[in-house]
Amino acid sequence: MIRLLFIGDVVGRSGRAAVLEHVPLLRARWGLDFVIVNGENAAGGFGLTESIFQDFLAVGVDAVTLGNHAFDQREALLFIERQPRLIRPVNFPPGTPGRGAAVIENVKGERLLVVNVMGRVFMDPLDDPFAAVRRELDLYPLGTACDASLVDFHAEATSEKWAFGHVVDGKASLVIGTHTHAPSADHRILVGGTGFITDVGMTGDYDSVIGMDKSEPVRRFTTKVPSGRFEPALGPATLCAVAAEIGADGLTKAIAPVRIGGLLSEAQPGFWT
Ligand SMILES: [Fe+2]
Ligand SMILES: [Fe+2]
Repeated sequence: MIRLLFIGDVVGRSGRAAVLEHVPLLRARWGLDFVIVNGENAAGGFGLTESIFQDFLAVGVDAVTLGNHAFDQREALLFIERQPRLIRPVNFPPGTPGRGAAVIENVKGERLLVVNVMGRVFMDPLDDPFAAVRRELDLYPLGTACDASLVDFHAEATSEKWAFGHVVDGKASLVIGTHTHAPSADHRILVGGTGFITDVGMTGDYDSVIGMDKSEPVRRFTTKVPSGRFEPALGPATLCAVAAEIGADGLTKAIAPVRIGGLLSEAQPGFWT
């Protein structure tokens, strides 16, 4: 059995503090084999710096995924090339720096394929996410090239995420939706054995507008007059994640939401206590 924790979009200083505080504790308490984090909003809400990325690895994060904000910090275009555990959407155009998939090995020798991909509904037009991920899953089949596989499907539309789950059902261990920053209550195991959730939610201050200090977004929605920059909200974060147990066949046997701290109601997996 492989025990995996996926932490949703970390927003700003507040979200980072939650990751740094909780990851070492949760790794030990639950005996986690892999911890994956979506870091696309970790640097002031926009992108990721190398020092933040290294802070995450130092507390026990195994890999970091990205999304539409992947290259908001220009330095990411450079350091992603030397960081094999940093994964950007696989369906970015050919020539984009970095990689969209990687096999991460842990100290026990277990191999996890991590794929990051972006949806196309209400988002930038990119290559077909379904075909792009299928190529990666064909290259790294469960049970031979890897022991487990996880797809971070970074997308706006719930329908696209559900359709994607069905397409890879039985071929990937887990499909975890990211990007909306609101946790959905529909975590489940699909008929073919793939663990699924529409959106894991963000790790940040929920007294906000999707992680940003609420004053400027509210002003823009109500008056259309921008009068400042978007800044991350600085109150205590809720760490939002998905916990999953993956069997010897590479399929998910148990999945549960995790919510710790901040404004949201607490949730922890019952199967590891
Ligand atoms: Fe995000
Ligand atoms: Fe996003």
